[in-house]
Amino acid sequence: MLGPFLSLFLLLLELPAPSTAYSWSFTSTPAQCQNLTVSVSGSDGKGPYRILIVPFGSSPFANNTEVRRILDQKFPSDSATEVTFQLNYPENSQFVAVVSDATGFGSGGTSVAAQVTSSDDFSCYNASQDVSPDFVYSIEPSNQIVQCQQTRIWWDPANVEGTPNFLGVIPGGESFTVPEGTITEVTSEGTGFSWTPSIRGGTTLLLVGGDDRGNGTAGSALFTVSSGTSNNSTCLTSDSPSSTPGTPAGGTYPTSATDESSGGNSSNGNNTGAIVGGVVGGVVGAIALLLLLWFLRRRHRQKQEKEKTVDLLHEDDGDEQAPNSAELPQYYEPEPFIIPDPTVASEDGRLSADGRPISQILSVRSGTPDIPGSTTSMGGVRKGGLRSLRPVNIIQHDDAGPSGPLRAEEEPETVELPPAYTKIRQ
Ligand SMILES: *[C@@H]1O[C@H](CO)[C@@H](O)[C@H](O)[C@H]1NC(C)=O
Ligand SMILES: *[C@@H]1O[C@H](CO)[C@@H](O)[C@H](O)[C@H]1NC(C)=O
Ligand SMILES: *[C@@H]1O[C@H](CO)[C@@H](O)[C@H](O)[C@H]1NC(C)=O
Ligand SMILES: *[C@@H]1O[C@H](CO)[C@@H](O)[C@H](O)[C@H]1NC(C)=O
Ligand SMILES: *[C@@H]1O[C@H](CO)[C@@H](O)[C@H](O)[C@H]1NC(C)=O
Ligand SMILES: *[C@@H]1O[C@H](CO)[C@@H](O)[C@H](O)[C@H]1NC(C)=O
Ligand SMILES: *[C@@H]1O[C@H](CO)[C@@H](O)[C@H](O)[C@H]1NC(C)=O
Repeated sequence: MLGPFLSLFLLLLELPAPSTAYSWSFTSTPAQCQNLTVSVSGSDGKGPYRILIVPFGSSPFANNTEVRRILDQKFPSDSATEVTFQLNYPENSQFVAVVSDATGFGSGGTSVAAQVTSSDDFSCYNASQDVSPDFVYSIEPSNQIVQCQQTRIWWDPANVEGTPNFLGVIPGGESFTVPEGTITEVTSEGTGFSWTPSIRGGTTLLLVGGDDRGNGTAGSALFTVSSGTSNNSTCLTSDSPSSTPGTPAGGTYPTSATDESSGGNSSNGNNTGAIVGGVVGGVVGAIALLLLLWFLRRRHRQKQEKEKTVDLLHEDDGDEQAPNSAELPQYYEPEPFIIPDPTVASEDGRLSADGRPISQILSVRSGTPDIPGSTTSMGGVRKGGLRSLRPVNIIQHDDAGPSGPLRAEEEPETVELPPAYTKIRQ
């Protein structure tokens, strides 16, 4: 289902990225616990390069255990244009990668959310244990980043080493270093600084905290930048970071959904929902189609039967039902029914399966399976006695289940089961 979209997306990815001086790509498909190689090309980058891998979206585990740590991988030397490292993320999780060179964070561009594909190697993470950041940070106002609205980022100095740094990662867009103004102490808001995000509303933003122990040691938080009630755009310029609708960095790699390439309001949850919805919709559609086909075929068969005045299964034809049985499961086999009129019934009963014309029977269909109980009770009773047995059959209709081996022989007697139909017909 995603195939066409993925192809289109991969096609788009192959267009040259105009916004950065150099480009980079994964040389292999990111897979669980496998080595991932990233290669930089273009002459305008300045080593050393580094790549930041930030988990994106929710944990792939049903119990929501988070095993992914932010990876900040340096290329092995100043001149190296390739780095290989183990991607210790579980399959079906997502991440965003940012490549930087000596000129600054995010200079190589930012990928959209890439999907970790499956592998046989589960050894690189421990799903029974959540990872936790080395320190935590908070923002005020909490839980939101509003375009052009001053935000305070603060932390407990007791838990950090050196001065924390914060990175803004915009999937498929331009990532940046959060400028740290004067660091102040505020009662109840700890140590921190104020930042006015000049990011357009609707942009997806991962705020990545770190300190001297490394980039990302404080984990990341996912936001969709809000326009706010006033939609204050005084701080925005054409250079304001945003999710650019152009080509995301990183070459070709699997993504779980195409709409992430546009950044903005998408999140993993939304995409999963969309995919699940699509899959469910497709499955439901397929089932509906199959049912429709089956129904049409069934009707066609019924019509044919009518035209040919084919007999429905009848008493003596047990053995001769073979053709019908081959086409339909037992439960759906036409149930023989004998017209209430005693004389008709006995006449029909003696007709052969092949040539028996019973137009009256066609209007009566029984949807119930054969009833072993009733057949058993009727066992040994021949057509001649059918009429007298009818009341008994009615009582036993509640039974269900496949007919036993006796069915073929005894079916003739079973035919008489639904007396109610008879009344209706009359
Ligand atoms: C993965 O990469 C590391 C470092 O380059 C290397 O030592 C290791 O052998 C590689 N593993 C595999 C399975 O390729
Ligand atoms: C995974 O974590 C659990 C809980 O901390 C621990 O008991 C277990 O030994 C760990 N397994 C591995 C393979 O490290
Ligand atoms: C979460 O689920 C995974 C598998 O789905 C399991 O291996 C892991 O132990 C679970 N973690 C916890 C904390 O229950
Ligand atoms: C808009 O934001 C700027 C700072 O980005 C602020 O100085 C100004 O007061 C805001 N205007 C309104 C109407 O909130
Ligand atoms: C964090 O990343 C920036 C830009 O990629 C880099 O200059 C800096 O050295 C990194 N910090 C640490 C502690 O590795
Ligand atoms: C905010 O204002 C810009 C123009 O300044 C407009 O294009 C945009 O639609 C507005 N957004 C909202 C949510 O009102
Ligand atoms: C996200 O997108 C959906 C549908 O496109 C929209 O209804 C919703 O308001 C958006 N949420 C935010 C926070 O922009």
